[in-house]
Amino acid sequence: MTTPPSSSHRQILSIFPFALAFLLLIGATRLVLENSKQGHSLRLFPPEIVSFETGEQRSWAANFSSVGSVVPEECNVFDGKWVFENASYPLYTDESCPYLSPQVTCQKNGRPDSLYQNWMWKPNDCELPRFDPLKLLEILRNKRLMFIGDSIQRSQHQSMVCLVQSVIPDGKKSVHRKPSMKIFRAEEFNASIEFYWAPFLVESISDHAKKHSVQERLVKLDSITKHHRHWEGADVLVFESYVWWMYKPIINATNGSDSDIQEYNVTTAYRLALRTWANWIESRIDGHKQRIFFMSSSPTHLWNWEWKAGGLGNCFNESYPIQGPYWGTGSNLEIMGILHDVLQELKVEVTFLNITQLSEFRKDGHTSVYTERRGKLLTSEERSDPNTYADCIHWCLPGVPDTWNQILYSHLLADYDFLQMSI
Ligand SMILES: *[C@@H]1O[C@H](CO)[C@@H](O)[C@H](O)[C@H]1NC(C)=O
Ligand SMILES: *[C@@H]1O[C@H](CO)[C@@H](O)[C@H](O)[C@H]1NC(C)=O
Ligand SMILES: *[C@@H]1O[C@H](CO)[C@@H](O)[C@H](O)[C@H]1NC(C)=O
Ligand SMILES: *[C@@H]1O[C@H](CO)[C@@H](O)[C@H](O)[C@H]1NC(C)=O
Ligand SMILES: *[C@@H]1O[C@H](CO)[C@@H](O)[C@H](O)[C@H]1NC(C)=O
Ligand SMILES: *[C@@H]1O[C@H](CO)[C@@H](O)[C@H](O)[C@H]1NC(C)=O
Ligand SMILES: *[C@@H]1O[C@H](CO)[C@@H](O)[C@H](O)[C@H]1NC(C)=O
Ligand SMILES: *[C@@H]1O[C@H](CO)[C@@H](O)[C@H](O)[C@H]1NC(C)=O
Repeated sequence: MTTPPSSSHRQILSIFPFALAFLLLIGATRLVLENSKQGHSLRLFPPEIVSFETGEQRSWAANFSSVGSVVPEECNVFDGKWVFENASYPLYTDESCPYLSPQVTCQKNGRPDSLYQNWMWKPNDCELPRFDPLKLLEILRNKRLMFIGDSIQRSQHQSMVCLVQSVIPDGKKSVHRKPSMKIFRAEEFNASIEFYWAPFLVESISDHAKKHSVQERLVKLDSITKHHRHWEGADVLVFESYVWWMYKPIINATNGSDSDIQEYNVTTAYRLALRTWANWIESRIDGHKQRIFFMSSSPTHLWNWEWKAGGLGNCFNESYPIQGPYWGTGSNLEIMGILHDVLQELKVEVTFLNITQLSEFRKDGHTSVYTERRGKLLTSEERSDPNTYADCIHWCLPGVPDTWNQILYSHLLADYDFLQMSI
């Protein structure tokens, strides 16, 4: 039902003419906390652990097979539909969660409609488990969950923090920043949920909080050292990198000597960068102790003619999901194919979270004009010019990224339950 048109492979489009401005700010973080925990990898599930309900000591071996999972292995959770569910959704509000940045708090920022918060993703062949914040915190006890990527990942990080934070009393939770990182800590669980800014995953001139712009991209396709030392020791790593590659079909990059700058096809560059990333994964990740996920691309909704014949606008004023099938020009199957190939070749298991199609339906979920630009809420004048100012790349929270996290949660839960059952 939801097969995207596969005829011609899609051209790399310049997918964010305006929204660059939003992306420019994303890396901005400041120094608060020193945190460097290298060469110290933990078992994801340590042999000795206190059961949450009973306080009883239990032991089990680490094994990430998904046998015994809540979601049956044969169920493709990415194949399904959005159903209206206003009794339990949204799972939090932008008033109740103090950890959201103004970029994503659409209700607070004056968005008049709210039904976009009330949709639940329903896989065709199974149910997603209900998100249980305490259970997730128990899974993350003595562990670090890290989201790595660009502003889209940053919103997934914020979503995850908001999904769990309500069950933690004040004074037992905190957020710290240091350059390139934002770290949420749940003290009583000694758990952290972290975000690391690396829009290309490999090194680039866009890694710095201030000195970067999408127009002047320069990517070091063979270098990842500056980043990966911050990733080592994290127990669960969730990667994402897409939108920054897509500004133009060619990109300036180096591969080897820093002085040998050349223009690469984005597809070639993306493959080389992923290989560099994959080499790091192979050499430094212990698949028995660490768990790796990769998010597929987050779709954009920049041109409403794609779903509404004759439309001249964008995602602005869209209040309902698309009733499938639908696949937009912002989601590049060639890039997704490269990602798939590279992940297939890896010996370490990396779970591909293929959220593109389900998010494609959500033309209503973007921040549109209910967001910030360069650190300031859009003025009413700017809001009245949505064709120029609407952001159809980022998502409102609560919103679509909550579903991505529910799917991520279902995987972590499956690992955990399997281990509990195998005691
Ligand atoms: C992990 O799971 C696999 C497949 O289910 C099984 O063959 C293996 O023995 C398990 N290893 C441990 C340490 O439990
Ligand atoms: C949920 O939606 C139904 C139908 O639109 C409506 O009657 C009901 O009042 C809504 N409930 C809440 C809690 O918003
Ligand atoms: C707290 O968690 C960190 C990992 O985030 C771990 O290295 C440390 O051993 C934990 N502390 C205790 C007391 O378990
Ligand atoms: C690559 O860099 C050169 C020199 O700065 C510049 O002229 C060119 O436009 C850049 N190419 C791309 C694709 O950005
Ligand atoms: C990039 O560098 C790697 C090794 O560092 C080399 O194997 C590869 O051929 C280079 N690719 C291109 C397109 O220059
Ligand atoms: C770059 O892309 C263009 C257009 O898709 C293609 O014709 C060309 O062969 C590609 N070059 C390389 C080196 O892959
Ligand atoms: C928004 O869409 C509704 C119909 O869905 C239309 O009546 C209204 O005029 C639109 N508002 C703007 C500002 O375009
Ligand atoms: C991801 O989903 C898309 C759209 O549903 C599909 O075309 C693609 O084959 C999937 N990729 C993988 C690796 O499963």
